[in-house]
This record gives sequence, structure tokens and C-alpha cells, in this order.
Amino acid sequence: MNIAIDGPAGAGKSTVAQKVAGQLEYVYIDTGAMYRALAWAVHHHQLPISDESTVSELLQKNKVQLVRENGQQHVYWNEIDVTSWIRSTEVSQYASIVASYGSVREQMLVLQRRLATQGNVVMDGRDIGTHVLPDADVKIFLTASIQERAERRWKELLAKGTQTDLAELEKEIEERDRRDMQREVAPLRQAEDAVLVDTTGMTIDQVVDRILQICERTGESTH
Ligand code: DC
Repeated sequence: MNIAIDGPAGAGKSTVAQKVAGQLEYVYIDTGAMYRALAWAVHHHQLPISDESTVSELLQKNKVQLVRENGQQHVYWNEIDVTSWIRSTEVSQYASIVASYGSVREQMLVLQRRLATQGNVVMDGRDIGTHVLPDADVKIFLTASIQERAERRWKELLAKGTQTDLAELEKEIEERDRRDMQREVAPLRQAEDAVLVDTTGMTIDQVVDRILQICERTGESTH
């Protein structure tokens, strides 16, 4: 079975997808980390983010890889492990810009489909159910209120020792949502056959259980 989990920024996709993959002993694939690695490289080399061909060429000439190390997923830009650098505010905003470029998405699509050919993957992103794996057996659209998503991010940053402004975070998330939903190529939207899971007020474990139930039901109906 392949499982696609899509949804807006901060809905808890990666935490939940990782846990679901762990429970089912599936491979977890974080497609957002691939866009983030490219965004990191654009930022790091101080290249013009608004120039699609420069960004697209950068991806063509380099290698983005997801590697599992000690049970954790790491993302590499060529030989550099960029995992701990890709979650900053700057890289997040850059990631949503590079993800709006058609020529970048075309390349990512090829890489991501290749990763899923082995089967038994849980892949999370924005366009997995609609474009990358339209035939996925289970499609989940994970969401939560904007206030709750900002609050979760605020707590996450605080746990890492970074004090931030909640209202500012809310604005940033809103901006990213808008860009991800309004872009021309593969915008963020719920696939027609996806199950909507609104996680507002739910704990991570409750969300994981709900998704496992949906998977179980799908498994039963296909056997
Ligand atoms: O899931 P994330 O926040 O790590 O994703 C970073 C950015 O990449 C996000 O703004 C949207 C984009 N993205 C995308 O367009 N398609 C995907 N499949 C995954 C991420």
C-alpha cells in the first residue's frame, strides 16, 4: 500500500506521517524536505530566488537525497547533510517560492515517484494525492485551524530555545498557505478521493490512530 498525506503548513503532517510509517513498518518520505534542501542551496549560494531558470538549473546540476540514519530521516544536498538548517523562517519562505516553479516541480515529481516505486511508503507533501501518487491506496488531507498551527509551531520553536511572536508566526503561515494554494502548478488542494482529517484539538496519537483506522478499513475492503 502507498499512503499520501497532504495538507497546509504546520498541520503536523511530518510528525504524524513518521509515526504512521513506524507503526506499519513502511518507509517515510518527506517531500517538503526536498524542496527545503533546494531552497537552502539557493539561500546559501545567494542566488536570485525570483529567477526560475537559475533555481531549476541548480537542482538539475546537483543531487537531493533522503537518507535514513539511526531511525531518522536526513536530507542531503550532494554530500552535505542539510537536515538541521532547512527549518529556518528564511528557508521555509524560500521553499514555498522554489515549489511554485513548474520546472522545479517536474524534476521533483520524477525523483519522488522513483522513491515510491518500492511500495509501502508514507509520503507527505502538498500534491502527493493529486499529482505525485494519484493512485495511492490511502489519501489523507490533514488540516487544523491557523491559530492552532501557529501555536504548535510556536511551542516547537520554544522547545528548541527560540522565543517568537505568535502573531508573526500566524502571518508567516498564512502567507505560505496562500502561495502554496494559489500557485499555478500543482497547488495545494484536497484530492477528491482524500479523507479530510481536521486535527484541531486532537493529540498526535489520536491523529495517528485515526489514520491507522482509515488504512485498516482500506486494507479490508481491498482484500
Ligand atoms: O511540508 P513543508 O513545510 O516542509 O514544505 C515546504 C514547502 O515546500 C511548502 O511551502 C510547500 C512546498 N511543498 C510542495 O509544494 N509540495 C510538496 N509535495 C511538499 C512541499
